[in-house]
Amino acid sequence: MSMRKFVCMLFVITNASLAFGEEGPDLGTEATPAQIAAWDVSIGADGAGLPEGSGTAEQGAAIYAVHCIACHGKEGVGQLNNRLVGGHGSLAGPAPVRTVGSFWPYATTIFDYIRRAMPYQYTASLEDKEVYAVTAYILFLNGIIDEEEVMNAETLPKVHMPNRDNFVLAYPDNPD
Ligand code: HEC
Repeated sequence: MSMRKFVCMLFVITNASLAFGEEGPDLGTEATPAQIAAWDVSIGADGAGLPEGSGTAEQGAAIYAVHCIACHGKEGVGQLNNRLVGGHGSLAGPAPVRTVGSFWPYATTIFDYIRRAMPYQYTASLEDKEVYAVTAYILFLNGIIDEEEVMNAETLPKVHMPNRDNFVLAYPDNPD
């Protein structure tokens, strides 16, 4: 192909994609602010984005009994692959048991995960205060907080997870 023909072809292709871009393929509809807000639920490790509301382990136990126990077992230790409690001190051994209590570095991630992904078959069906309560219950069962401690946007980020300091930052000078 001559250089001239090649340049010409390039022009046609570029022009065609520009025209396409302008008109658009006319697929889908624009997301509404309400739809975007419903998806925009990420919680930072430092608690940024945590909603209002609060709950205790005592309240969480009742919610757990209805919505979680069938899969995660009594007090979170019922089933090997779905256990949420225990494993403390096992991570460096030959049979590490990684649970949200023994392994996860931030308590805020437990809230985020439960709110977006649990109960497994009815995701995002719990109210924020119920998520706080059930998070508190899991932290309590893991021996990380007391039964009557209130978990909310202020207290949850302050919970120090037992395995936090064993995570090594890839870029320590730029932790974000
Ligand atoms: C129908 C079964 C089912 C129910 C009910 C359920 N879960 Fe889960 N849960 C799962 C499964 C399966 C996973 C693993 C999902 C994956 O890894 O993709 C999981 C994972 C989790 C994890 C992360 C565990 C980890 O170590 O990665 C947490 C925390 C959790 N569930 C909490 C809850 C809470 C709290 C409730 C009740 C509000 C609940 N789950 C209800 C099935 C269930």
